[in-house]
Amino acid sequence: MVQPETEVVETDVLILGGGMAGCGAAFEAAYWARAKGLKVTIVEKAAIERSGAVAMGLSAINLYLGMRWNQNTPEDFVHYVRQDLMGMSREDLVYDIARHVDSSVHMFEEWGLPIFKNPDGTYKREGRWQIMIHGESYKPIVAEAAKTAVGDGNVYERIFVARLLLDDKDPGRIAGAVGFSVRENKIYVFKARAVIVTAGGATGVFRPHSHGEGLGRIWYAPWNTGSAYSLMIQAGATMTQMEHRLVVARFKDGYGPVGMWFLLFKAVLENAKGENIEQKWASLLKEWEPYGSGKPIPTPLRNHQMMADFRAGGAPFFLRTDTALQRMYQEAANDPKKIREIEADAWEDFLDMTMSQALIWASDNIDPAKTPSEIVLTEPYLMGSHASGTGAWVSGPEDAAPTEYFWGYNRMTTVKGLFAAGDGVGGSAHKFSSGSHVEGRLAGKAAVAYIMDNGAAPSVAQDQVEAIRAELWKPFENYEKGRTASTTDEINPTYLFPKMALHRLQKIMDEYAAGQGSQYITTEAMLQKGLERMKLFKEDLGKLAARDLHDLLRCWEVWDRTWCAEAHMRHLLFRQETRWPGYYYRADYPTLDDKNWKVFVNSRYDAAKGEWALEKTPFLSTIP
Ligand code: ADX
Repeated sequence: MVQPETEVVETDVLILGGGMAGCGAAFEAAYWARAKGLKVTIVEKAAIERSGAVAMGLSAINLYLGMRWNQNTPEDFVHYVRQDLMGMSREDLVYDIARHVDSSVHMFEEWGLPIFKNPDGTYKREGRWQIMIHGESYKPIVAEAAKTAVGDGNVYERIFVARLLLDDKDPGRIAGAVGFSVRENKIYVFKARAVIVTAGGATGVFRPHSHGEGLGRIWYAPWNTGSAYSLMIQAGATMTQMEHRLVVARFKDGYGPVGMWFLLFKAVLENAKGENIEQKWASLLKEWEPYGSGKPIPTPLRNHQMMADFRAGGAPFFLRTDTALQRMYQEAANDPKKIREIEADAWEDFLDMTMSQALIWASDNIDPAKTPSEIVLTEPYLMGSHASGTGAWVSGPEDAAPTEYFWGYNRMTTVKGLFAAGDGVGGSAHKFSSGSHVEGRLAGKAAVAYIMDNGAAPSVAQDQVEAIRAELWKPFENYEKGRTASTTDEINPTYLFPKMALHRLQKIMDEYAAGQGSQYITTEAMLQKGLERMKLFKEDLGKLAARDLHDLLRCWEVWDRTWCAEAHMRHLLFRQETRWPGYYYRADYPTLDDKNWKVFVNSRYDAAKGEWALEKTPFLSTIP
């Protein structure tokens, strides 16, 4: 087995992950760092130009207030998020994103992103918060600005970051990170005075609908393996809402998004009998007051209606793209040019961000103007940027956070000098691509301020680095030692490959932690059993094997997902209520319980003891 060489990189601000939040962080941190003579470094496991959740592009920016045209206020947005999240958000963080987000969108346009316009020059809206873009190249445009800002020598791509480094003299303080190249036999040790984790949410924790060859065809980015959460959990950062998750209605098999169809085209969701799901199950929402009668219907409650109809025998479900388009054609007075435009918008919606859905329509001979399309609910994803709030517990902004939620620097976690943004920050949903970018910028600015106030260089113990190095390379050792125990690589009594481990993890989560195969239902007993299986599973993960760097990447991605899975189960177990029906059900506590559970569930993993501690943290509303 060839031992890797080690390269040490010393920097001031280290950004982990080059998605939307990472690009925002790089852009803003570089601006403030330049004036102070500080260095900013960004590390990405793929290539920033096409990495993260926006890699393929987007057809809409789901968060734009339009304050320059007086379209919405930040307070309006907090009210919307409060309703969609069934009462529970870090309103200080949500407000902070809302008041700044438009400026990121204006920069995107300045950098070359084409935005649909109305005749009066305002942006064309899909819904109250969403604007339409020609966004196939959204990510390369944002990436170019970020990479230019930090400068060539400070961009490290194709490096998978596997561990954070804590300060030798103060273990409550960040000191850097360790990663390995997925192209060369090389380990990177980054020493930094502040670190911003923007490494994305978690997919593949639950068994998806697609399997075999189609395994990676899911809705959220399959390469988002929850590094943001696993890195911060292992470093001892306090996490919040790890019980929360996202389950969304999507076009079946291609996972094409539904937003434009619902909001702009006003398409209706019907069951196999032609009944309108929302109308048929309107009374069901009364059990979930005050959110049930609020508008819009929260995302989980919309799922809840579909699930009720599934049990009542209504499936399969269809989005009536046909009636929606025919109505729009009529409204266009059957003008062929306008009809072509509507048709082009409908297809571009997929071609900009989910090409596979357009391919599925084409290969299934579906003309959306003539044939309705099947809709299903996805498996759960753990993420902090969509209609879900999983992530780190961070300090809010000085001027808008209650004192209980403020400890010096905006978006700093409970580990000194460790910041988060995007999917990495919990309790503040609906940031989407633009909100993640702006949150990265807020963290980038705060990280520079932190360094100016807390100047000391990090102290990194060499034995800490050596131990991580040996651990990261263990899968190669397992393979070398075990390979002669059988005549084929794939079946071996001494080791397992990451794909096998992934299937086992997904099976545990699907069956015990309210996956789609269990109709999103779990109980205390189920979770206890699942955690028992998780313990044995983790023992076996010590036998993960890698033949090459690709396998090695997959091994550590399975570990990422396992940390996320365990945190998720522990949080599900702790919250004894069903706060978000349609995302998951605690069958043993089937109702919402505002009296006891209108609180955040926060957790902290103590690496030295190998123990988790969970607690209720008060929910404080900051916006009337
Ligand atoms: S996307 O992230 O893949 O584009 P999606 O298509 O679900 O998401 O939604 C786009 C936007 O529309 C999001 O802001 C989402 O919350 C919102 N949305 C989607 N469907 C509905 C609906 N039926 N009612 C209200 N808002 C919706």
